[in-house]
Amino acid sequence: MLKRVKFLLKEVDKFNPKKKEEIELFRLKFLGKKGEINKLFKLFKNVPKENKIEFGKAINELKKNTQEKIIFSNSRFENVVSVQKIDASKPTSLDNLGSKHPISLIQKEICSIFEKIGFNISSGPEIEDDWHNFTALNLPKEHPARDMQDTFFIQTDPDILLRTHTSSVQVRYMQKKNPPIRTISPGRVFRNEAISSRANCFFHQIEGLYINKNVTFADLKQILIYFAKEMFGEKTEIRIRPSYFPFTEPSAEVDIYWGLNNEIDYRITKGTGWLEILGCGMVDPAVLDNCKIDSKKYSGYAFGMGIDRIAMLKYNVDDLRLFFENDVRFLKQFSYL
Ligand code: PHE
Repeated sequence: MLKRVKFLLKEVDKFNPKKKEEIELFRLKFLGKKGEINKLFKLFKNVPKENKIEFGKAINELKKNTQEKIIFSNSRFENVVSVQKIDASKPTSLDNLGSKHPISLIQKEICSIFEKIGFNISSGPEIEDDWHNFTALNLPKEHPARDMQDTFFIQTDPDILLRTHTSSVQVRYMQKKNPPIRTISPGRVFRNEAISSRANCFFHQIEGLYINKNVTFADLKQILIYFAKEMFGEKTEIRIRPSYFPFTEPSAEVDIYWGLNNEIDYRITKGTGWLEILGCGMVDPAVLDNCKIDSKKYSGYAFGMGIDRIAMLKYNVDDLRLFFENDVRFLKQFSYL
């Protein structure tokens, strides 16, 4: 009989269920009313006295092992379930994932177009002094062209203002570095304009500057064509119109051909199909001299564009204010980019 107990002990030990249902069958087989253990207890009374202790111990061991095995087996299946619940390799729900801001996306795209051809990125303060924002750029005090950019001055100190363009960064860069200079300066700028769907009191610009020996308008034209094609596609046509900026001479504005395919195109191009995207020109020698760069030795070109404007075009957004309201329903639309 002891042999039988030992045999059953081995069976309990080996029990390794593949499915949870097997545990119940196992339990019935050993612990059920008509199960093996009860059968053994029934035989107990016939066991000779001298063997009773040993036999009793063996059955109790069998009972204990069986119970433990059942608890252990059940917990294994429960563990499998709970491990699945926190499966760290499972992809999470993407519902509340943040996204890059459309202005940042366009800024990055423009920067990388210029980085590819050797421009570096420079930045400067948003709170500027008069000299870096105006005077150094050929806009002395009382110059009428200051009115082109309606400025926020700090009330207590008229020499301090919120920069109206990132040309001020270029001035700082020229003061610090010697030519050749090849830099683009993205950043936020401020102008005291009435807020509407097309204008805001702050917006974003990227300005570029190249200074070296023998830089000509042909170099500028080349870079403008390169940029327009990279940004808007290989077939993009551009048009360069004479213009005026105090810090460049000659100065120009660049339009791209947007087309007249629908009513919106008519509206944004004022019926011409052409859309202005940037201002540019050859850096005025007086500006170079102001920044301690020898204008007899060096020449250069500069250009500047509004990032917000380009983002509106690229993403077909018809109200500039949407970029700054931080409405998640709007921003979410850019999460795939
Ligand atoms: N700074 C000019 C503006 O904000 C843009 C510009 C930059 C024009 C460089 C010419 C050259 O309007």
